[in-house]
Amino acid sequence: MTSRAIAAVILAAGKGTRMKSSQHKVLHPLAGQPMIHHLLATLDHVQTSRTVMVVGAGRDQVETAMAGRDIRFAVQEPQLGTGHAVMAALPELDGHKGDILVLYGDTPLIPADILAQMLSRLHSTPPNGSGKTGLVVLGFRPKDPAQYGRLVLDGDDALDRIVEYKDATPSERAISLCNSGVMAFDGALLPDLLSRLTNSNANGEYYLTDTVAIARSLGASVQVVEALEDDLIGVNSRMDLAKAEAVIQKRMRDAAMANGATLIDPASVYFSHDTKLGRDVLVEPHVVFGPGVHIADGATIRAFSHLEGAHVAENATIGPYARLRPGAEIGIGAKVGNFVEIKKAKVEEGAKISHLSYIGDASIGAHANIGAGTITCNYDGFSKYHTSIGAGAFIGSNSALVAPVTIGAGAIVGAGSTLSGNVEADDLALTRAERQTRPGWAKKFRAAKQRKK
Ligand code: UD1
Ligand code: CA
Repeated sequence: MTSRAIAAVILAAGKGTRMKSSQHKVLHPLAGQPMIHHLLATLDHVQTSRTVMVVGAGRDQVETAMAGRDIRFAVQEPQLGTGHAVMAALPELDGHKGDILVLYGDTPLIPADILAQMLSRLHSTPPNGSGKTGLVVLGFRPKDPAQYGRLVLDGDDALDRIVEYKDATPSERAISLCNSGVMAFDGALLPDLLSRLTNSNANGEYYLTDTVAIARSLGASVQVVEALEDDLIGVNSRMDLAKAEAVIQKRMRDAAMANGATLIDPASVYFSHDTKLGRDVLVEPHVVFGPGVHIADGATIRAFSHLEGAHVAENATIGPYARLRPGAEIGIGAKVGNFVEIKKAKVEEGAKISHLSYIGDASIGAHANIGAGTITCNYDGFSKYHTSIGAGAFIGSNSALVAPVTIGAGAIVGAGSTLSGNVEADDLALTRAERQTRPGWAKKFRAAKQRKK
């Protein structure tokens, strides 16, 4: 990596009309976080010294979402093209000495190593020795080149110019190498290039792509780095958003397996940007990881479970059909079985909640056994209350624990109880209506019904 300072300019002034959304395009989520955050995380890897975001339509939304981040905003109003957008960023680049990366806010999957390649090409001597490299363009060969700008190479594999689709001749349209939009500029050259742009083209816009031919005319060389189509998906519509999600999910599934987790059916498992799986974690089919999940080594997440904001310790088993909500902390070797929902609760080592329970705002001691159908009644319509269950306690099936309630270590709660208050350690507590038995009543009842027929 070059030791020169790197500034990034992110173009995000467009309306994103084709998303048909009240939300700004760059704020639509991929893997559970706004797409722009993925791009910013990549820029952290290349260690940019300054980031300028060009905003226009819907800029309030973008600026609010970026609160607390070290980002400078440049407003482009009206929007007269990509070159015009970078011109709008120039005042915010004042005083920056070094390289300038131009990126699109709606092209968030670009890998950091591709940006690093572009920057190193910017400082390498061009292969044919002609002139100094003034800029580097990131190209790709999409399956369907559609309306992308085409990269016209010269005889030496350097870039001669970029033609926009609308301005291209049939033979130029036949070129398969396309412009991704990402460019790396020598910062000393950029203002001069921009000042020479005109809007005499099919769209009447100031095209950033025209800087290529301008740089050539000033004696600089322009180089191309190529990347894969999947890394350069531009999100213009909900269909593109789904394509980008598929790419990022595939990356995360592959990374999880590369790190030693088994995914029986990878394509059916959905991750968030921050999901962490340890080694020898087994994930069965159809599992969804929302944000903030950490699964430690050797744990098993069985089919059809949904987890978010949860921590699962070593060798615990979750599911099938379990739901872990924010604040669920499952201890070593603990078991959370089918149709169990856990929220804001600490379940200690070896505890079992095997079937059909709601455990919220609670702590469950080590090796406690929570019977089927146990419900912590944590909410009275106004406030939330805590349930504490001691180590080794046994809660009989279908108990309603009306919080605040504390069950001591080793205590037993009889099945079907509705309890609140305290149960001392090793006591038995139960609430149960007295049993009634009427010998032979059922037989007599049926006989009476038969006679009426
Ligand atoms: C642009 C490129 C094209 C390339 C394609 C890749 C130009 C002239 N063309 O075309 O060669 O193949 O991207 O996707 O650069 N934006 C602004 N202000 C503006 C105009 C655009 O901020 O005035 C932003 C948009 O929000 C978007 C990005 O720039 O993030 C690209 O703009 P868009 O209009 O989609 O460019 P294309 O016509 O697709
Ligand atoms: Ca576009």
